[in-house]
Amino acid sequence: MTEVLRARGITKSFGGRAVLRGIDLDAQAGDVVSILGGSGSGKSTFLRCLNLLELPDAGRIEIAGTTAPLDHDRKGRPRIADPRALNALRAKTAMVFQNFNLWSHMSVLDNVIAAPVHVHGQPRGEAIERAHGLLDKVGMTGFAQHWPRQLSGGQQQRVAIARALATDPDLMLFDEPTSALDPERVREVLDLMRALAAEGRTMLIVTHEMAFARDVSSRVVHVRDGVIESMGPPDAMFGAGASPAFRAFLAH
Ligand SMILES: Nc1ncnc2c1ncn2[C@@H]1O[C@H](COP(=O)(O)OP(=O)(O)O)[C@@H](O)[C@H]1O
Ligand SMILES: [Mg+2]
Repeated sequence: MTEVLRARGITKSFGGRAVLRGIDLDAQAGDVVSILGGSGSGKSTFLRCLNLLELPDAGRIEIAGTTAPLDHDRKGRPRIADPRALNALRAKTAMVFQNFNLWSHMSVLDNVIAAPVHVHGQPRGEAIERAHGLLDKVGMTGFAQHWPRQLSGGQQQRVAIARALATDPDLMLFDEPTSALDPERVREVLDLMRALAAEGRTMLIVTHEMAFARDVSSRVVHVRDGVIESMGPPDAMFGAGASPAFRAFLAH
């Protein structure tokens, strides 16, 4: 098995309030890990710590063999020890956000090729060719020259997923990717994520889509109040042996 993620003892406070209180999580290549939990439990903060959009106060993160270059300044505040290593780590992940976060002043095509060309130095022609393939894959053939504002939410999210795939990340992070969509658009995005899971992509998914999580995940993680309250295979987590706290969350 190839280890893609090893996170140990991730902690984070905001203004003296502990939001993550020591999270350990591993993922092997091809794992689909659903992260479930109530609002404010720290799910987004955890994902943001993994690609260092947020700097954890303590803990260790390894993604596909690269260790997050974290240390502390003299006052004990977390900092990036080495900006080049930061880029190397970020290159191994890609994040899909609730609100798509496409660049509104760029065409669909330019959104998809931006990171390969400007961050990874891929020749533009190659990046464009690959982008067209990815747009086909996400069901957005023919939309390369559209602007994000011309697309429905579901279409924007599928473009965002094509953009995430464009750098061929080792680990994909999804933060409530369907929460901002109209109900009739949710399914097209879930179906696409299902296809990515089936082809062996390693994914961490924060979601409230319980049927999807149960169906697609190799592991389900329940985060409560900044810790992993329980985790296990979906059959166990959605079965009679689930922890009382997780059952209470599901019933809510
Ligand atoms: N940048 C920030 N500054 C201050 N507080 C934050 C920040 N980000 C998140 N928080 C707080 O941390 C807690 C956990 O937030 P979050 O990780 O977004 O939870 P979840 O995604 O599980 O709903 C919340 O109380 C939130 O208000
Ligand atoms: Mg969140």
